Amino acid sequence: MKKIFFGTNTKMYQTSGETLAYLRELSALTADMDRDVMELFVIPPYISLERAASEISQDAVMVGAQNMCWEDQGQFTGEISPRMLKDLGVRLVMIGHSERRHIFHETDQEENKKVLSALDHGFTALLCIGETLEQKNFGISDESLRIQLKIGLSGVREEQLSRLRIAYEPVWAIGVNGIPASPGYAQERHHAIKNCLQELFGSGGAQIPVLYGGSVNAENAPSLIVQPDIDGLFVGRSAWNAADFNKLIRDSISRVMTQRPPFYG
Ligand code: PGA
Repeated sequence: MKKIFFGTNTKMYQTSGETLAYLRELSALTADMDRDVMELFVIPPYISLERAASEISQDAVMVGAQNMCWEDQGQFTGEISPRMLKDLGVRLVMIGHSERRHIFHETDQEENKKVLSALDHGFTALLCIGETLEQKNFGISDESLRIQLKIGLSGVREEQLSRLRIAYEPVWAIGVNGIPASPGYAQERHHAIKNCLQELFGSGGAQIPVLYGGSVNAENAPSLIVQPDIDGLFVGRSAWNAADFNKLIRDSISRVMTQRPPFYG
């Protein structure tokens, strides 16, 4: 069976105690699910990482950081280094989330340095990409995604590809004012992303999981996950209650099992 990926970024919402309670509940609710066919990750604020990484079994729920400096140490006030995250036992690093790019003005070149550093330090790297509404309206969505991929992944080596994940999150689809992409639109962009990854890395590129994110909810998750080039769902608000996220995951998997049979057995 083809592996399906589910993750959530809890942004700047939960305290450390709330994160732990959430992770414990999510781990318990999803304990019966086979992790060979389903990868699950949660990306809480930095201050929760130490407890989360030590108190939760990361074979069940992988714990990730929301950002990372590319340098091991130095004069970078306010930043957190790969060495520090490794020390805590964090396994995944998210890079280039839309809010990092658009509120904190991170560039593709900076995301590239972070991707290379994360992979060199042995982390799973989740690179987020997405077009703005303006780019979509100009008809340059695929061009802008290709630029983010080509710069962001420049220098990644073939043996690192198994630790790479891409989240496609259209900027206009994210957050309280976001409009979710239709399953058809998301599938077209995922197809373009997969083509670009294959161009960059050959057959290894085709194996890189590409997750859709941006106002994923209980209603649209099953119809997004059955699209042939959507390998997983990266969920914000609709995942922050463990019972709701568990249901979203189960409903999505059961839809895949009934509607995408070629991927099973
Ligand atoms: P949302 O967030 O699901 O609340 O739109 C998605 C994200 O920012 O990754």
